[in-house]
Amino acid sequence: MADKDGNVSAKDYGVGVEPPGEVFPIKGAQHLDWGAQHRLAQMFNPASGNTVMLAFDHGYIMGPTSGLERLDLVIPPLVEHVDVLMGTRGAMRTCIPPTVRKPICLRGTYDASVLFEDMSDGGGLAADMVNAVRLDACAFAVQTFVGAPGERRSLETLARAVDAGSTYGIPILGVVAVGKQMERTEKFFLLATRLLAENGANVVKTYYCDGFERVTAACPVPIVIAGGKKLPEADALTMAYRAIAEGAHGVDMGRNIFQADDPAAMAQAVGKVVHDQYTDKQAFEFYQDLKA
Ligand code: R5P
Repeated sequence: MADKDGNVSAKDYGVGVEPPGEVFPIKGAQHLDWGAQHRLAQMFNPASGNTVMLAFDHGYIMGPTSGLERLDLVIPPLVEHVDVLMGTRGAMRTCIPPTVRKPICLRGTYDASVLFEDMSDGGGLAADMVNAVRLDACAFAVQTFVGAPGERRSLETLARAVDAGSTYGIPILGVVAVGKQMERTEKFFLLATRLLAENGANVVKTYYCDGFERVTAACPVPIVIAGGKKLPEADALTMAYRAIAEGAHGVDMGRNIFQADDPAAMAQAVGKVVHDQYTDKQAFEFYQDLKA
């Protein structure tokens, strides 16, 4: 405990030395509270400024997806190769050891399951922000349906999550959904990503498209790309490479990692593109060398 008497006198005041004046490096996050910045700083690698998020929340609408039949067996071996774990609270509480030292992005919304013809109807909050704090979440993901029947409802959900996230210092990941009837054009992604950022999302997850450099330029917060359906590994690495070269700050990738022939090798190859400026060709060679 501090003592009242007998202390060494303070004298090293650094008179004339300017404070470090560090500028917070994550796009659009300079004016967030310290807690929110601290959480974002855990997600984005300080050297590359980018992140490899592993998405394994598919069960929340798809049930036991191929590759994720046993989260407790599949996810723990991948943890060391990625920067952030993205999943539902049920998955975290049942299948992910709390000893993992990686930040969590909590899937914060529920949505219509794959049993419904139109999944873009819009869902709602699956957890409140107090639960996100209990789960030690570094980010809270909200699915949105821009241009679809669920647009209004999902934007309302986003707004409420942004309010609560601001109260607790938890950044919001706005997710651009692409339903059956929804476009996958530059025009659509320009609109949807900007719309989510302007409605308060601190990071936006979307899909890669032609003209992606304009999408990332027009979005005032970092963009990470989803992988989408499984592609051959070389193609998935090409998509990641192009996204990073055109301004993405990382990936939030699921099936193209956990459905790969060798998921651990694929996670590391994606990391080489995202953090170490590997080309897609170099990353694929790296993958083949590592592949079990
Ligand atoms: C989105 O709705 C899903 O929940 C996944 O988080 C997302 O699609 C990313 O996974 P994948 O790379 O498999 O598309």
